[in-house]
Amino acid sequence: MHASKYGNGAMVAEEFKHQMEARGVAVSVHQVRDIRPKELPAADLYLFSSPGRMGRPIGGMRRFLRKVDLAPGTRYALLTTEGAPQPDKDTGKLPTEEERARHERVRPLMNETLQAKGLSEVAEDAVFVTGTKGPLEEGWQHKVEDFASRIPVEP
Ligand SMILES: Cc1cc2nc3c(=O)[nH]c(=O)nc-3n(C[C@H](O)[C@H](O)[C@H](O)COP(=O)(O)O)c2cc1C
Repeated sequence: MHASKYGNGAMVAEEFKHQMEARGVAVSVHQVRDIRPKELPAADLYLFSSPGRMGRPIGGMRRFLRKVDLAPGTRYALLTTEGAPQPDKDTGKLPTEEERARHERVRPLMNETLQAKGLSEVAEDAVFVTGTKGPLEEGWQHKVEDFASRIPVEP
């Protein structure tokens, strides 16, 4: 389930589907505006992906996650699209993960909403966009491939 606005997250979702299908796992991709949060299709695992907006998930995803109605213990993963960390104007240094985490709350807020419903996270990551509306960072397919390899699959 993704809330892609400019298409980058939709590309990430398609690549994830492709990678999981290579592992023998069927994936269906949905834009959140096209699916009812209280009537999600049955699945072994749900992947939620949101673009960042002012350090938070985009509004459509926040509303969607608030309404999601899945049994406690249901497994989920997060693979967001977020703006690439920018070097500090004075020092030229990239922010550390800790510094970035102070204002980038996209995944923490998604986790907060889902974990309050008793859902259980198995993996999370962000794929970066190099400009506000894209494109995706170089080598993004490898990041998705690495992420897909971290999703536990029952034999
Ligand atoms: C108004 C606006 C605010 C944004 N704020 C953030 C932000 O706070 N953090 C972030 O990581 N990305 C931010 N972005 C960049 C989005 O992450 C980027 O547009 C998105 O990942 C692209 O995905 P999409 O093509 O699937 O919509 C912002 C983009 C816009 C247009």
